[in-house]
Amino acid sequence: MNRRHFVGMAGGLAAAGWWARHRWPLPQAGRGLPQPPMVGVQGLTLRAAPGPVTVGGTPVDAWLYNAALPAPTLRVQRGERATITLENQLPEPTITHWHGLVVPEAADGHPRLAIAPGATYRYDFTVDQPAGLAWYHPHTHMRTGYQVHRGLAGLVVIEDPGARTSGLPPAERELLLVIQDRTLGTGGELAYDLRGPAMMAGYFGDTILANGAPSPAHPAEPAVYRLRVLNGSASRIYRLGLAGPGSLRVIGTDGGMVSAPIPVDDVWLAPAERLDLLVDLTGAAGQRVTLETRAFTLPAGTFGPRGMGRGPEMMRGRQGDAGPIMHFDVGRSRVIAAPAVTLAARAIPSLPRGAAERRFVFSSMMMDHTINGMAFDMSRRDVVTTAGAVERWTFVNDGPVPHPVHLHAAHFAVRTRTGGRGEVYPWEQGWKDTVLVLPSEVVTVDVHFGPHPGLFLLHCHNLVHEDMGMMLNVALEPA
Ligand code: C2O
Ligand code: CU
Ligand code: CU
Repeated sequence: MNRRHFVGMAGGLAAAGWWARHRWPLPQAGRGLPQPPMVGVQGLTLRAAPGPVTVGGTPVDAWLYNAALPAPTLRVQRGERATITLENQLPEPTITHWHGLVVPEAADGHPRLAIAPGATYRYDFTVDQPAGLAWYHPHTHMRTGYQVHRGLAGLVVIEDPGARTSGLPPAERELLLVIQDRTLGTGGELAYDLRGPAMMAGYFGDTILANGAPSPAHPAEPAVYRLRVLNGSASRIYRLGLAGPGSLRVIGTDGGMVSAPIPVDDVWLAPAERLDLLVDLTGAAGQRVTLETRAFTLPAGTFGPRGMGRGPEMMRGRQGDAGPIMHFDVGRSRVIAAPAVTLAARAIPSLPRGAAERRFVFSSMMMDHTINGMAFDMSRRDVVTTAGAVERWTFVNDGPVPHPVHLHAAHFAVRTRTGGRGEVYPWEQGWKDTVLVLPSEVVTVDVHFGPHPGLFLLHCHNLVHEDMGMMLNVALEPA
């Protein structure tokens, strides 16, 4: 046996052992929905660097974490300590944020912590929250949209060995899915062109990618699949449904599981939101079932804070266009019966009497995106409260474009929505960190801050709006 052979085999065996221990399926090379590589969080190095990838058979010049698109999936157990080194090999500053993880200030990726090209940043934090799906991406001042768009984004799977669940599909039928829309530039790069209406509506790519692949077809069995989905797009909202003989149930949202599976016909998924879905293909033997995004229209909203008229059609961009995302090609093997499902939800306490209330008005007018009339200022402390506080926050959209509102250092429960769609949807149950506020909507949430004092953020997760200043600092003083 020559050395190369030996090294290859040893590496393969070691990897096989690791996969077996972690009960995770091997990535399927070139077949079906690609699955990002899976890595642990102890002593992990994440190198952000330019690099080549292939998108739909076309070589593309991207910016990547550890050369992967999507970036490697981080897998962490509840209670585990993460020690991660970020190496910046990009030609500009960057910093990484763990979206959905409640971590100390120094680990949260605030833009003021960005590091120069060639520099490194050490993250050290302990994950203590229920099982769920979080994600990571750059949070660089005015450059988040560009850096995410070039390819810098990946998932974080939080597992809780203490959680009592049953009846969920086994690992080989659990799929992770990052949905992003992209446009390939003439030079083979991922183009991020913000001219014209993009400054208002946001960025809309030509092609919807599922884990970096344009509408992949996944070979499936007539069984129930678990599909854990992130909308990693800059601005595009998806209304996910199935075309063909399949059905959907929601089992989790941003911050973990809901109390029981919720049957849905379709679900809205705004930028940065996550959903944990069961896809029932037991009646689909020999057929194709397509996960698609369905057409929708937006409440008109008003143009300008005083309501100078209805939002012009150009403000919509390509928001609400329909299209396929991925396919399940279901084989004719024996139907695998679907057991009853038990979930482990973390109860949401009711709002304590006398909880503080705050109101935030999200306004978009021409190229101006503000919260309570303010654009982001790195050093201003816009909201000052206490670590561990529980408060009622109200988000108001008084303009013509949607705002997916995201808060760091906390999870929240969505309580009411008036105006616009006028209801809190079943798939907005459970703990969340991002909520969609369409034109003319008013959404209230109960915010439960985590235990860490420091400077954190509230912002719109339409990355074009965020980069143009639709973001405030939230200062948490020690309790
Ligand atoms: Cu996903 Cu402050 O971001
Ligand atoms: Cu975040
Ligand atoms: Cu916005």
